[in-house]
Amino acid sequence: MDRDIERFYEFLNRRRSVREFMDREIEEEKLSRFLDVLRNAQGAANRQPRHFIVVKGEKREGFNRVFTKEGFKNAPLCIVACAEPDKAWVRKADRTNYAWVDTTIAITEMIAASSAEGIGTCWVAAIDPAQVKTILDIPENIEVVAVIAMGYPKEPLVVQEKARKPLEEIIHHERW
Ligand SMILES: Cc1cc2nc3c(=O)[nH]c(=O)nc-3n(C[C@H](O)[C@H](O)[C@H](O)COP(=O)(O)O)c2cc1C
Repeated sequence: MDRDIERFYEFLNRRRSVREFMDREIEEEKLSRFLDVLRNAQGAANRQPRHFIVVKGEKREGFNRVFTKEGFKNAPLCIVACAEPDKAWVRKADRTNYAWVDTTIAITEMIAASSAEGIGTCWVAAIDPAQVKTILDIPENIEVVAVIAMGYPKEPLVVQEKARKPLEEIIHHERW
């Protein structure tokens, strides 16, 4: 396999959810690359019905109320991913609104980039969206999809076996 491709898979595979962070800020230039990934992600009909709130520095501590797990409170950076359903593509056949899909695609790509850069992340869904909206002044029509806790991991990212269902349980050939 080509070395670049090998590295690509290595970066993907070393991603894991990180819940303990070092006391070390993420460099601005890394952050700006992550924000570009969020911006450039693919999405249905290119409607881009997504917003991301960067919570760091002085604002960061006040935001800790949203977390129950202690480790997340030490993450130097949180990105709050939001969907704007009014701006999203809606599938005609069943009226499915793609705002959340488009938002989660962007998050996933950014998390992959973070892993490549040695930054640990955890997708935190177990928050109270209403509380997050109040703390961050998020408008009524915007939905909070996830909080991504980010920082240098206490334990470095390495490729390791993941607890996953076997392929044959999830991949179906030709038909279910
Ligand atoms: C949509 C989503 C929501 C999640 N919510 C939480 C959460 O609220 N708290 C948490 O500790 N981990 C959360 N996780 C992390 C998962 O528990 C984790 O991805 C899963 O156990 C697989 O482990 P891995 O990420 O280390 O491969 C979430 C992950 C995803 C993708």
